[in-house]
Amino acid sequence: MENIRMAPEGLWILDQTLLPGEEREILLDSREKMFEAIASLRVRGAPAIGICAGYCLAALARDIRAEDFPGFYAALEQEAAYLRASRPTAVNLGWALDRLLAAARANRDRPLAALPELLLREAEAIHREDKDMCRAISEYGLTLVRDGDGILTHCNAGPLATSQYGTALGPILLGTERGMRFRVFADETRPLLQGARLTSYELQKAGVDVTLICDNMASVVMKQGWVQAVFVGCDRVARNGDTANKIGTSGVAVLAKYYGVPFYVLGPRSTIDLACATGADIPIELRDPEEIRRKFYERPMAPEGVRCYNPAFDVTDAALITAIVTDKGICRPPYEESLPALFR
Ligand code: MRU
Repeated sequence: MENIRMAPEGLWILDQTLLPGEEREILLDSREKMFEAIASLRVRGAPAIGICAGYCLAALARDIRAEDFPGFYAALEQEAAYLRASRPTAVNLGWALDRLLAAARANRDRPLAALPELLLREAEAIHREDKDMCRAISEYGLTLVRDGDGILTHCNAGPLATSQYGTALGPILLGTERGMRFRVFADETRPLLQGARLTSYELQKAGVDVTLICDNMASVVMKQGWVQAVFVGCDRVARNGDTANKIGTSGVAVLAKYYGVPFYVLGPRSTIDLACATGADIPIELRDPEEIRRKFYERPMAPEGVRCYNPAFDVTDAALITAIVTDKGICRPPYEESLPALFR
């Protein structure tokens, strides 16, 4: 089942909040449902959020009634601004919306009636390109590990978070297809459990040897020498290599440094934000404290009214990152030089 699919009746997504128990698609047929689906992580993972947002804006463009291009474009910008506010950290969301806005501007001389179809073509291109990028990332990532290696991953950066293969899980899935064997440790990833619910589900389905661990067990498996590489995804990579990813990632990077395990970030160029100088410029999403207090528990597991701090992402310092694996190759420090070179 595809995680995002455009059909004549509208945009369908696999509701990731129901996994692993239930595989159910939902139709996003209003702007409010689109916003809610992104904000509540029914569709999630930086590249998938971008793909989804592209299709959302293309679908909303069909309902715009305008007399001329300026009127059409003003309404399109409004819809884009609405969707953009759904989640702040993953740069792919704004990147995809900006791509559709640019496509509209480039076609301003076409008949207004042709624009929604053109925007849909652009959204499809984003989707197609993501598949190609994931494949390339997987190939590059596979050169960094050997048959039989132990790999630790945090959160979920697999097919559900992208299109095909995924980023951090891409080399594992591609290598498995080629007959290699890896032993994967999946951090459960509190508080929303993407590792438990999604990563272990995807890897188990693909026949990968996966062991689920609580987030606070990563140091134990590293200390025992069971991990030869850490593979994680990314939501926004700053020009200096500082990388925002799911909360807890930076702690894993610190542990990896201590135990001498290489720490790799894998992501498409759409996740690299050269306009962001350092990690300090990356907006970090703060989420509802109830996710910590009671979500997934039968009853609240913290005293009523206790203060909770719930940032959804953290920034891993570039100094802790061994390499950043992209669809155009593997970037090594100094990232101020290797990352901009990807776009030349
Ligand atoms: O809050 P989420 O589940 O959208 O966070 C996802 C992550 O942090 C992923 O690691 C990242 O988006 C990369 S997905 C290829």
